Order: sequence, then C-alpha cells, then structure tokens
Amino acid sequence: MRAASDVVRAAARELTEAGVASPRVDAETLLAHVLGREVADLRRALLLDEQVGEAEHTAYRQLVEQRASRMPLQHLTGVAHFRRLTLRVGPGVFVPRPETEVLVDLALDALRGAGESPVVVDLCTGSGAIALAVADEWPTARVHAVELSEDAHAWAAANVAATALSVDLRLGDASSAFEELRGRVDVVLSNPPYIPPGSVPVDPEVRDHDPEVALYGGGEDGLAVPLAVAARAAELLVPGGVLLMEHADVQGEALVRRLRATGAWGDVADHPDLTGLPRVTRAVRAR
Ligand SMILES: C[S@@+](CC[C@H](N)C(=O)[O-])C[C@H]1O[C@@H](n2cnc3c(N)ncnc32)[C@H](O)[C@@H]1O
Repeated sequence: MRAASDVVRAAARELTEAGVASPRVDAETLLAHVLGREVADLRRALLLDEQVGEAEHTAYRQLVEQRASRMPLQHLTGVAHFRRLTLRVGPGVFVPRPETEVLVDLALDALRGAGESPVVVDLCTGSGAIALAVADEWPTARVHAVELSEDAHAWAAANVAATALSVDLRLGDASSAFEELRGRVDVVLSNPPYIPPGSVPVDPEVRDHDPEVALYGGGEDGLAVPLAVAARAAELLVPGGVLLMEHADVQGEALVRRLRATGAWGDVADHPDLTGLPRVTRAVRAR
C-alpha cells in the first residue's frame, strides 16, 4: 500500500517534466479514473491520507507513463466533458474543447428568436458535442448532424446512443448534406477543421492524436472547408436564419470579410471566447 497523496505528487512531478499543461489536475484525474471515483471525492481522499493498493498503483503508473508520452488525457479516461455532457472519445475523433462551449451559448441565444420547434443543423459534428449539447439544453429543437469521417461518426453514434438525446446523425460531406432541409433550417452550427496547412499544432496531444481531417481547413489560409460549409449553410437556412461558426483566433477578420463578400449574409459579426480571443463568427442569412 502507498499513500495516495505521495503517488499523485510523484505523478504530477513526472507530468510537469514531460511538459503537460495541467500536471496536477491530470495526475488526480487519472487516479480518480483508476479508482472509479469522482475527482472531488479523490481530493478528499488525498487530504485524509488514504492508501492505494499495488494493483491500482500498477494500473495508475501505466496511465501516467502514457500521459507523459503526451497521449491526450481524454483518450486515457475515455471521456470528455462538454457543457452538461460526458462524451465518449478516443482515437479517430476530435476531442471537444472548452472554447467551443461559447458557440453553444450563442446558439441558445439564436434559438430564443426562433419558433417553437426550431430546426438546427451541426455541420462537421465530430463526437456530436455541439449537436448533443443543443439537444440537451433546448429539448424542443429538432437537431440534425453530419460527419465525414467514419471513425468520428462511430463515436458520435455511440454518444447519441449513450445520452439517449434526439439527434438525427448522418455520415456524409457537410458541403452537400441535408438536401431535404434546404431553406428550412433556423440555425446552422459548425466547428469545422480550420487550421492553415503550415500551422502544425505544437502540442503533441493535438498534432499526433486529433485526426488530420479534423484539424486542417485546406487552402492557403485554412478557410477552404469553413467557406464550403458556410456556402452550404446559406443554402440550408431560412431567410433570417443564423450561422455560427468557430474559427482560429487569427481568422476572425478574414472569415467575416469573406462571408460578407458572398452577398449571402446580411449581418456578420465576430464574437470572442471566454479568454477574449476572436472565436465564433455569427452571420444572418440575407432575406
Ligand atoms: C474541429 S473538428 C470539430 C468536431 C466537433 N464539432 C467539435 O466541436 O468537437 C472538425 C470535424 O469536422 C469533420 N469534417 C471535416 N471535413 C468535413 C466535411 N467536409 N464534412 C463533414 N465533416 C467534416 C472532421 O472529421 C471533424 O470531426
């Protein structure tokens, strides 16, 4: 038996040396995962100087080593938290990010102005995070979602099943999806791939573990896929309908400018995320 607090302290030190951004939280989260406990409960156990058995310690050490090799924390625990949901994630799917949560806030604002049972489409759904959060937080919405990658689609399907939320999930290309909804959608949401080709992410968790199809937006500026998705959104939305699209912090001005240039959008503005960085473009379909 070993003191849980010593075990966590040693792991946090190792993760710090490996360059992990939040070593203590990750060390606690992994031990909570091994012990099948909530993190808050684990923190109480650390204060009470609880002990860890040898088998649990061995399992924990394996996970800490994997985390030190910069495997994403969420791949090791098998879950990612997004809004009120706990979603299943792993190899083959983009891990949903906290900065995307602001897009859901903006979606709920947009839905306040829509009808009784608004039609919502999530283009490029990945794990299903955005679509499922809207279905969870706006239960009268009729939510549809599409994903190109078979691997990611399988994770999204597992999340739809596990949450039992009502989302019409499809496998396909966002730029031609939902032909039967043309001109009938109230709100289109998208966090598409948008990283420019030359800007390979520095963090190994992202660079080596998020699928390339989820990261790189194509074209010189990474906006090829986002603009194709926006063009489809313009076809799907009712006049006055709202598009909300996430982008890189450096793309705020360019995306606003390029959407305005299409003539399809009446009111285009950019919104910051919780850290104040440009993050989501909101555009209203011209009437
Ligand atoms: C940045 S990830 C975002 C996933 C999810 N929306 C989220 O916020 O967690 C982009 C997703 O778009 C998918 N994707 C890329 N190109 C696509 C396309 N043409 N049509 C549909 N999905 C696409 C990728 O496979 C990936 O799952």
